[in-house]
Amino acid sequence: MSTIIRPEAPADIEAIRALTDAAFRNVEHGDQSEAAIVDGLREAGAMTLSLVAVGAGDAILGHVAFSPVSIESGETGWYGLGPVSVWPHCQRRGVGTALVAGGLRRLEERGASGCVLLGDPAFYARFGFGSDPALTYRGLPAQYVQRLVMVPPAPRGEITYHPAFEAAA
Ligand SMILES: CC(C)(COP(=O)(O)OP(=O)(O)OC[C@H]1O[C@@H](n2cnc3c(N)ncnc32)[C@H](O)[C@@H]1OP(=O)(O)O)[C@@H](O)C(=O)NCCC(=O)NCCS
Repeated sequence: MSTIIRPEAPADIEAIRALTDAAFRNVEHGDQSEAAIVDGLREAGAMTLSLVAVGAGDAILGHVAFSPVSIESGETGWYGLGPVSVWPHCQRRGVGTALVAGGLRRLEERGASGCVLLGDPAFYARFGFGSDPALTYRGLPAQYVQRLVMVPPAPRGEITYHPAFEAAA
């Protein structure tokens, strides 16, 4: 599938909401708050990057958000990846990989220090993410707290996401 990754445009917002809801509908670790998180980040002006994957006919296939995080050890220039969503009927065709890779490249171009996420190492290891027991998030098992260091040192301690992540479903 040929996929273009580009920043979201105002006309994409409804499609992003719908695909985020659909992608997380049957996800075990999701709570259906993900579309509200994306909206909240946008309203707060806290979406450092909001990228869409576009396929044939300009159809929106997927979306990823990146927003600033703070980490207890005080390093600056760190961002959180997520939510990331691909329409269920478009999954497993490389769209999610293109979104994550495109976002990380843009973060590096901005001079980011690194990126964190909460997710499955089976998907994120390919981008260079790894876990570090020194980095924590609300008692989540260490393997799901992933980080990619772009500019050392690696941060330590508890990660704090933007308040929009507290959105209730
Ligand atoms: C996770 C998600 C964004 C991946 O997008 P995608 O377009 O399906 O990903 P890709 O096609 O690029 O997949 C690349 C690889 O990751 C694997 N993969 C995809 N989703 C995975 C998952 N949830 N867990 C583990 N591996 C996964 C695929 O098997 C594929 O492996 P392969 O290259 O060895 O065949 C998509 O499945 C999705 O929207 N899921 C629901 C929402 C969600 O869980 N978001 C992430 C929260 S951490």
